[in-house]
Amino acid sequence: MSDVSERVREHAMSTGLPSGVASARAREIIARLALEDRIRLLSGADMWHTVAVAEAGIPAIMLTDGPHGLRKQGGSGDVGFAPGVSATCFPTSATLACSWDPALAEQVGRAIGEEAAAEGVAVVLGPGLNLKRHPCCGRNFEYYSEDPLLSGRMAAGLVRGVQSFGVGACLKHYAVNNQETNRMVLDAVVDERTFRELYLAGFETAVVESAPWTVMCAYNRVNGEYCSDSHRLLTEILREEWGFEGLLMSDWGAVNDRVAAVAAGLDLEMPGSHGVNDAALGEAVRSGVLAGEAVDACAARVVELAVRSEEAAELRAGGSPGAQNADAHHELARRAAAESTVLLTNDGILPLARGVRIAVIGAMAAEPRYQGAGSSQVTPTRLESALDALHSAVTARESAPSAADVAYVAAYDPVTGDLEPDGLAEASRAAAAADVALVFVGLPASYESEGFDRAHMRLPEGHDRLVEAVCAANPRTVVVLAGGAPVELPWVDEPAAIVLTYLGGQAGGGAVSDVLVGDAEPGGRLAETWPLALEDVAADANFPGEGRQIRYREGLYVGYRYFTTAGRPVRFC
Ligand code: BGC
Repeated sequence: MSDVSERVREHAMSTGLPSGVASARAREIIARLALEDRIRLLSGADMWHTVAVAEAGIPAIMLTDGPHGLRKQGGSGDVGFAPGVSATCFPTSATLACSWDPALAEQVGRAIGEEAAAEGVAVVLGPGLNLKRHPCCGRNFEYYSEDPLLSGRMAAGLVRGVQSFGVGACLKHYAVNNQETNRMVLDAVVDERTFRELYLAGFETAVVESAPWTVMCAYNRVNGEYCSDSHRLLTEILREEWGFEGLLMSDWGAVNDRVAAVAAGLDLEMPGSHGVNDAALGEAVRSGVLAGEAVDACAARVVELAVRSEEAAELRAGGSPGAQNADAHHELARRAAAESTVLLTNDGILPLARGVRIAVIGAMAAEPRYQGAGSSQVTPTRLESALDALHSAVTARESAPSAADVAYVAAYDPVTGDLEPDGLAEASRAAAAADVALVFVGLPASYESEGFDRAHMRLPEGHDRLVEAVCAANPRTVVVLAGGAPVELPWVDEPAAIVLTYLGGQAGGGAVSDVLVGDAEPGGRLAETWPLALEDVAADANFPGEGRQIRYREGLYVGYRYFTTAGRPVRFC
């Protein structure tokens, strides 16, 4: 066994968790099953569950999203992105990465694990740790950084936390899944050194440092081969080189050729193929195209996951029902958001002096942009707005003016970002009448999501105009910026301070209020470069690719590696 697999195993042992090497028990169970039953185990029973084989004592287990909170949907069918049970919505990974604190990720992970356990969930589908190759990837809000070491360490922290509660985590999306355009069919063409040093390195770190129970393979191809078909990626690199001993599942619908996938070592197809692939696998084994041992190895790992989850029941026993955790987890979410908030500029205006009259401007102050859209969307247990939190903070401060002194103007539509008819005029009037103006702007939800990439890096035009108008009306203006990824800041030198919250989760409003009034330190530092313009990004010449192919021609020159090497200026480093 390699040193690395030894370390993975030691880690698993030191956490008191079953190690995950298909145990003797799993192998015995498999040996008693007919080929058809072994094959049945290799795909989901429905959207979120594995198959139970009752006569062999194998329970079905539930796998569900992830990553910054639990997204457990009611029922068992394909319910798309319908709202799930309520769960604490923590800051998304793009936010949390700014804390540079894997121990904080671990605390968040533990809380997510506790909530998952209370809901009977065996595996949480996260964290995602694909690298931020280009600022416009629509899913960057769900990923940590442009740097693989930081990504790997943060992901490892989250995994350790979730698993400390006896719930499995899932590293995704393995590998080279760095954009949403054509994500299901795209061929990412990348040279070996870049592949290893950038796109695999974070996964390697996370596997070695946290022994995840599961890994999810990505939809796309790498150098011509679908990830789901790749023996090199799934078995040689992940298992043999890094010592991964858990279960490998497909992304939802990511299997290209199920027979090739089993031969490559892809244990579980999710959600499944309504039996089509079962027939193909049976035929392949009977005709000698596929070794029966390959089916057995995958089936044993599916059973092993169920066994592992059963054996970890003791770790889950200490948890309390969701409702009892709600307050503590909300407070953790608030602290995590503050510790991840980045003060981009500050001429000394922050923290706000006591007794100042404040104008709060921008609909995002009242209706926060706090998480991303798609499979990671959590139904929060509650939602704190910055406006309410500021009212409370100002009211609570000694010698502060009354809450009535926090004026509010929405100025734009929070969904579209479009200015209201009198938005600019009202905002300017409110700003001029106050000592300090706080302008809340950012990327509306429609600008970034799983499923598509951004076409540009601009804020809604009305948001830029709003910031300019407010700064002109009152130079003592603080901009509070939300969104999952970098944006152009044409007005960067005008405000007295810029506070970047990214997507702060359900308690993000409270956290930014804490930071503004000085009750919490804005502990975040950027985990990705903010370029001046898209043209400056080395990968931009090859993004999002032509047709079904994307060439990673920039090689290693991703993020700061490019800007520092080329000596190019950036907006924020
Ligand atoms: C996403 C995964 C997610 C899965 C299940 C896929 O489309 O890429 O991240 O875990 O759906 O919702």
